Amino acid sequence: MEVILTNDYEEMSKTAAGIIAAQIRKKPDSVIGLATGSTPLGTYKELIRMHREDGLDFSKVTTFNLDEYLGLSPSHDQSYNYFMWENLFKHININPENVHIPQGLVDDAEAFCEWYEERIKKAGGIDLQLLGIGSDGHIAFNEPGSSFGSRTRVKTLEEQTIKDNARFFKNEDEVPHFAITMGVGTILEARKILLIANGENKAPVCKAFIEGPITSQVTASALQLHPHAMVVLEEKAASMLERKKYYNWIRDNKHLVQKYLGR
Ligand code: PGA
Repeated sequence: MEVILTNDYEEMSKTAAGIIAAQIRKKPDSVIGLATGSTPLGTYKELIRMHREDGLDFSKVTTFNLDEYLGLSPSHDQSYNYFMWENLFKHININPENVHIPQGLVDDAEAFCEWYEERIKKAGGIDLQLLGIGSDGHIAFNEPGSSFGSRTRVKTLEEQTIKDNARFFKNEDEVPHFAITMGVGTILEARKILLIANGENKAPVCKAFIEGPITSQVTASALQLHPHAMVVLEEKAASMLERKKYYNWIRDNKHLVQKYLGR
């Protein structure tokens, strides 16, 4: 796991957007996995800027979002469909046919989940998956206890997640209790993973998933099993890490090893 420490939210967002843009420039028809929540908003803002000012081209990009609340229509202002169009898609030149977001209003959620997995396979798999992390350690809506082999499915949300997300709704009672989410197993199949986190409230969980044991009680710790996982943290989220000095040394001395890597 490559841990990249940044000074503030803006630097975290620009670093993450830079990694996504580099992937798209290298492979214009990349398949990118996207996330919702407050954490990636700055990353999306920077990608929009790069599209407008630097010509970053999304026309051949395919996207798959991680999750959606079960029961919310795509036009509901708290649905993740709505979030993605408002905060990213409507500002870039993505082909709407290449956008995939789980649907919250489906007659047969199980069949939908199978279809979603199939679509990811048909697209050739995900090249780069962006992730946030919940204060209970979840990635997507894989709450504590989710199997590392889990696939896209319906998941019941934890009380903590409902409390955390209540800030976006009128009150806690309005937060849906179920979601459709990619599984931990689905996420681990992405060729590269990029997790971002900011804020003091994420510090304990960042320490747990980066420096603690691999456990389904902190589903983000599954990233320790991935061959190419990058974690970009803002200072407060990184404040409890014990090996900060080591991560910073690597960042500052990367050039020393470059000559051995053939890059
Ligand atoms: P947040 O949510 O970005 O709003 O903190 C992250 C998550 O639950 O994955």
